Amino acid sequence: MTAHFGTAPGSLADAMAAAGTEIDAVLDQLLPRPAGPEARLAEAMRYAVLAPGKRFRPILAVASADLFGARREAALRVAAAVEFAHTYSLVHDDLPCMDDDDVRRGQPSTHIRFDEATAVLAGDALMPLAFEVLARPETHAEPAVRTALMLALAEAVGPRGMVGGQTIDLAVEHQPADIGTITRMQQLKTGALIAFACESGAILGQAPDSQRQALRAYAHDLGLAFQIIDDLLDVEGTQEATGKKVGKDAGLGKATFVSLLGVERARNQAQMLADQAVSHLEQFGERATFLSRLARFVVQRSH
Ligand code: IPE
Ligand code: IPE
Ligand code: MG
Ligand code: MG
Ligand code: MG
Repeated sequence: MTAHFGTAPGSLADAMAAAGTEIDAVLDQLLPRPAGPEARLAEAMRYAVLAPGKRFRPILAVASADLFGARREAALRVAAAVEFAHTYSLVHDDLPCMDDDDVRRGQPSTHIRFDEATAVLAGDALMPLAFEVLARPETHAEPAVRTALMLALAEAVGPRGMVGGQTIDLAVEHQPADIGTITRMQQLKTGALIAFACESGAILGQAPDSQRQALRAYAHDLGLAFQIIDDLLDVEGTQEATGKKVGKDAGLGKATFVSLLGVERARNQAQMLADQAVSHLEQFGERATFLSRLARFVVQRSH
């Protein structure tokens, strides 16, 4: 039996790197290979996905699946689906019509390295690839489990999830927003997909609803903390560490947790949310060690 990640002694960085290596291998295997007249599309998909991201969401998915003893192959497929959805959102987020960012994951953004049309199409292709991976029987023998995964992902990335949040994000570039609006925006644009990653193990493991709820509560706090730190890194971080341009939010006049609360209160809020996230894991005891350590990573990260 494969050892569970993140419960053995050793640094969190080592545990994340070990999970990341397995995730990267599955991403590589599931991505199309360049061939034929559409080779450029596959190249752009591979360029965007296989770039050195933190793999935070797929690592959450693997940690969640471990909690319920799900098969490793299944966990890695769900993890890959999450990363495909996430990468699509980044490729489109960087387009000139959105945040207009030319650096991502330490390399030229996909529309810079290729061209805008190819970047749009690469994002368009990554989203259905995520659903295709979930839909295939290798993900779970039970069709109802595969459907539940697809439904949860659809909700997480749709108008009441990530895309809805991105819409609010663009709107608040031009209009004042209060903390309630910003919280809702972050929950949708970032929190919803993180919540899917956290809950996916409970779906795969057909866990009781109370356990899925606990993971949802954990994810709710974790997702907000994650985005607060993203906003802080835009103010205090470096391009070298984050792999993306900094100072963009202020440049765009974007309302964020940091613009509304200030640096210090934003950091305290993120810390408080991370502690609160961990408290929702109590019922799982030591089995949830990796997830609780990941909550600490969120507030300590510099990238
Ligand atoms: C960046 O996500 C976009 C947000 C939703 C905040 P990550 O910080 O996880 O980016 P990668 O995957 O490591 O590049
Ligand atoms: C992006 O938020 C969220 C999604 C892509 C869904 P940001 O615009 O803050 O992310 P970065 O800072 O460009 O990574
Ligand atoms: Mg954005
Ligand atoms: Mg952006
Ligand atoms: Mg940001």
